[in-house]
Amino acid sequence: MKHNDSSQNPVLIAATQRLIERKAKDAETGAEADPVLLARAAGLEPDPWQCDVLRSESRQIILNVTRQGGKSTVSAIRGLHKALYNDGALVLLLAPSYRQSKELFRKVRDAHAALPFARRFTSETALEVELANGSRIVALPGKEETIRGFSGVDELICDEAARVPDKMYQAIRPMLAVSGGQITLLSTPFGKRGFFHQEWTEGGADWHRAMVTAYACPRMSRTWLEKERSAIGDWWFRQEYLCEFVETTDQVFSYEDIQRALDPEVKPLFGGA
Ligand SMILES: Nc1ncnc2c1ncn2[C@@H]1O[C@H](COP(=O)(O)OP(=O)(O)OP(=O)(O)O)[C@@H](O)[C@H]1O
Ligand SMILES: [Mg+2]
Repeated sequence: MKHNDSSQNPVLIAATQRLIERKAKDAETGAEADPVLLARAAGLEPDPWQCDVLRSESRQIILNVTRQGGKSTVSAIRGLHKALYNDGALVLLLAPSYRQSKELFRKVRDAHAALPFARRFTSETALEVELANGSRIVALPGKEETIRGFSGVDELICDEAARVPDKMYQAIRPMLAVSGGQITLLSTPFGKRGFFHQEWTEGGADWHRAMVTAYACPRMSRTWLEKERSAIGDWWFRQEYLCEFVETTDQVFSYEDIQRALDPEVKPLFGGA
């Protein structure tokens, strides 16, 4: 009897191919207009605050989010969306170190790989990919020299922003003003200092802000959090899980003391008229 190997049947192969393409098309439908659908196509059901971030049209987004809250994941999908649906877009991923920016880069690549309609990258290295539409996604460490070489940036995502040097931020701002690009700063706090704290507290109404403590994250249990609080102590817990800008131990004067000292209404203790 002749063996019937259906995997070699051209009619079946073509039908399967059509089915895959149709499924991919279904999954892609709407993802261009709605990044939340892109997240879902990549297998992620975003939390409500993540949906807001994905849909935000603000040119400036700042996320003060608990450890493990999902800020890198949602920012990676924003970056991927920008690259997929804007031909020739340049998306930069920044972090204080290469290790951290590569981690964010990995999240972008993982989300891309999970898409049923993902097309091959036209080129890829450990730190950069290029898509068929000419868009590029590039991972950089938080060093001023590295950013100065780029222009026409459409989206800049700065992870662990509270630990990125201020000089870096000063180099970025004019570049984005010229290109009209979007910026996302994401971090847990790191003391009352630096641009992340400054923009969070005094940056004005132009920022889309999201603050998410660990208690608001559906993936962290209260029991685990209470254990963590006793393990790491109150000070760290407030910074890492409650999104508080607690004073750093090397800050001799508190932020409020400095603000008071700058207040012209306050009379000096000595030598004042
Ligand atoms: N909406 C979601 N549904 C399910 N899992 C999620 C969701 N968002 C994020 N995660 C998962 O939660 C974990 C933490 O996410 P992510 O790394 O983005 O958090 P983070 O806020 O950047 O954390 P860290 O401060 O440690 O860098 C990851 O395993 C990620 O896949
Ligand atoms: Mg992260």
